[in-house]
Amino acid sequence: MTRLLVGTSWKMHLTSTEARSYFRTLVPLVADIVDRDLFVLPPFTSLWVAREELAGTRVAWGAQDVHEEPAGAHTGDVSAPMLVDLGCRYVEVGHPERRRDHGETDRRIRLKVGAAIRAGLEVILSVGEPGAIGERGARAVVLRHLGAILGGLDGTALDRVIVAYEPAWAIGAGATVAPTAHILAVHRAIADWLSSRACATPRVVYGGSVDRAACDALLSGHGVDGVFVGRAGLDPVEFARIAHVGLRQP
Ligand code: PGA
Repeated sequence: MTRLLVGTSWKMHLTSTEARSYFRTLVPLVADIVDRDLFVLPPFTSLWVAREELAGTRVAWGAQDVHEEPAGAHTGDVSAPMLVDLGCRYVEVGHPERRRDHGETDRRIRLKVGAAIRAGLEVILSVGEPGAIGERGARAVVLRHLGAILGGLDGTALDRVIVAYEPAWAIGAGATVAPTAHILAVHRAIADWLSSRACATPRVVYGGSVDRAACDALLSGHGVDGVFVGRAGLDPVEFARIAHVGLRQP
């Protein structure tokens, strides 16, 4: 039985000053949560604040992207050893907004995953179909991405990877959470794929318009190892409430 994961990415929101206030609000609200792993992925500019405010708390932190090289002439980029130095436990790779805004491909994402694992980070690999193509189509797209990105990894490396199933059509303002049956079917396919590659602890979380109401269904059933929250996680009080779904309301 894997521990449930509840995490949020702020995307390109909140300054480092706002980050400090966010963490100071969040930490006492989740201090009672012992059986779930919580994480926050702020922008790079707030990772140092996360280290100051979250070290020794129940909330881990990480980054939203990483470069595939450990160092070098790559203006504006940030490497995995730099993230480790800032105490990051996690790094997200492959979000559809990175594909859209930066032209990231499966090949590039595969290199980033490798760099993150070599540096000792846990990877949150975002995969999902771009449009609403139904459950069968979604499974085919997601398994193709997994093969291209994770196909060369052994079971030990795969144990360092959390797959975030994030259908692009369910992400962002105006979108709504994917139907539970759809999510469960794709999660099952991902978990089976990981198990067939000798991954001992397949972890598959869902992201895309997650809010408290969605979590009621998602966190109570089998097959969803956690949730990855966007917009609803920008408010620390709401994120704390989501982290408590199925436990008790704070
Ligand atoms: P959203 O973002 O919750 O705002 O839809 C989800 C994500 O991109 O992970």
